[in-house]
Amino acid sequence: MKIMHVDASAKRERSNSRALSRFFIEQLREEGVDVDLDYLDVAVNTPPHVTEAFAIATYTQASERTQAMKDTLAASDALCQRLLDADALVLAMPMYNWSMPSAFKAFVDSITRTGLTYVNTADGRIDGQLGRQKVLFITSRGADLRPGTPFSSMDALTPSLKAAFGFLGVANPTFVDAQPLQFSDQQARTEALERARGELSAVAARWAEVSLTMQEELAAS
Ligand SMILES: Cc1cc2nc3c(=O)[nH]c(=O)nc-3n(C[C@H](O)[C@H](O)[C@H](O)COP(=O)(O)O)c2cc1C
Repeated sequence: MKIMHVDASAKRERSNSRALSRFFIEQLREEGVDVDLDYLDVAVNTPPHVTEAFAIATYTQASERTQAMKDTLAASDALCQRLLDADALVLAMPMYNWSMPSAFKAFVDSITRTGLTYVNTADGRIDGQLGRQKVLFITSRGADLRPGTPFSSMDALTPSLKAAFGFLGVANPTFVDAQPLQFSDQQARTEALERARGELSAVAARWAEVSLTMQEELAAS
């Protein structure tokens, strides 16, 4: 299974979202999945922010682009190809100010590309090209934003991820949200991490089942 794994926390060894995404990949391997990993740390290798040159080049038809426009889009082209080549995406990030880290937003801006990750069809529809990929979002939050909590209405992260990736054809992403990890007592934090690890183990078992069935079908064909 070719997996594109993206981390986005500004923290390194102390990061919970990084630890949880690593845990998930380890679980997949323990389940017997042959993982072919393509790793990107957007906190370190942050895709460039949208520039005027990018905004013009991206909406110029591919056949009309100058060499300078092609050069402007080259890094984004390559990133899109990495997503398209993957069978699955594991995208881990903390909540920052109720939404995604700006490094991850720069990633979203780089991978949302006409003619690559979505296509305008002749009959006026938008056809997202990431419908084949399994997608798991792992998010870490300081507060508890689960339904019924005082902060639940502040969750601008889940809807923005659903919208951005839904546009690219991701219809049913899985979310594992670890919360509360900061603004709570130690027991609640420990329980939140245990809950997240339990959910991740269950997702890994489901992905493994699908992946192993596919491998068997391939071997039999
Ligand atoms: C700049 C910044 C902004 C944050 N904003 C929020 C927030 O809006 N809501 C929230 O619940 N937690 C917020 N947090 C807490 C983090 O989401 C939380 O500590 C999370 O576990 C960090 O994940 P990490 O360990 O992978 O970096 C914020 C943390 C930082 C550093």
